[in-house]
Formats: sequence, C-alpha cells, structure tokens
Amino acid sequence: MYTEKVMDHFMNPRNVGEIENAAGVGQVGNAKCGDIMKIYLDVEDEIIKDVKFKTFGCGSAIASSSVATEMIKGKTVHEALAITNKAVVEALGGLPPVKIHCSVLAEEAIKTAILDYGKKNNITFKELEGFNPTEDHHDHEEE
Ligand code: FES
Repeated sequence: MYTEKVMDHFMNPRNVGEIENAAGVGQVGNAKCGDIMKIYLDVEDEIIKDVKFKTFGCGSAIASSSVATEMIKGKTVHEALAITNKAVVEALGGLPPVKIHCSVLAEEAIKTAILDYGKKNNITFKELEGFNPTEDHHDHEEE
C-alpha cells in the first residue's frame, strides 16, 4: 500500500525539530483527522537556509513533511511557494487516495510559514494572494 519512499521517510524522517527564533513558522491542521503540522524556516536573503518540522499526525503526514522539507531546503522562498501537494506526492512515489490530504498539509504548512516570514519582514508574496489555510478549502486534494 505504501511506497518504499513513504516508509523510509516515515521511519527516518529528515529535519525533525524546531528552530529557535525562526524567520517563519507555519502551523496547519486538518479538521477531519485532527492531525497537525508545524514548519520552521530559517531564511536569509529569501533563501531557505534551514527547515525543521514537527508533525503530530499519521505516517503519511510525517513522510510528506519530511520529503517537503528536503524539497525546500536551500531553495528560494519563491521556489518553495511553487511546491504543490502533488509534487510532494510525486516525490514520495505516490500516496493512497485517502491519504492525499496529508500531503496538502505539507504544502499549506510551507505556505503558512512563508506567509509568516513575509509578515515579519513586510514582504507580500504574489503567490500567496487569496491563500487562507484556516479555511476548509481542500478542494484540490483529490487531484
Ligand atoms: Fe490526516 Fe494523514 S490522516 S494528515
């Protein structure tokens, strides 16, 4: 049911932890399953120098956050904003359909952390126009 990649990231998640005085922090949750994901970013000149996460959730959410942190580390915030949950699923070699929403949490946690970074530094990201993670608008999750 789960790919080797999912199992690997679940058993040995990368970048677990917290960053003190992080440049941006994003926490999102899924109302239905109650799972919570928190992402911390260390940003310098719009480059994500470091990223850590804490996920209180299912294995797929842990694997999604782990692979997502690897995908954005060393990238610019704009490159990170372009990462969709679909890209996260692809990086994991696929997720079962009922677990797609777990990857949506990863996309939203990254966006929320960058939104926080933007707020703290008076930067508005065009990519985040209309983004509102607190709303239950997971209509793109079944893609
Ligand atoms: Fe909800 Fe995985 S079951 S995040």
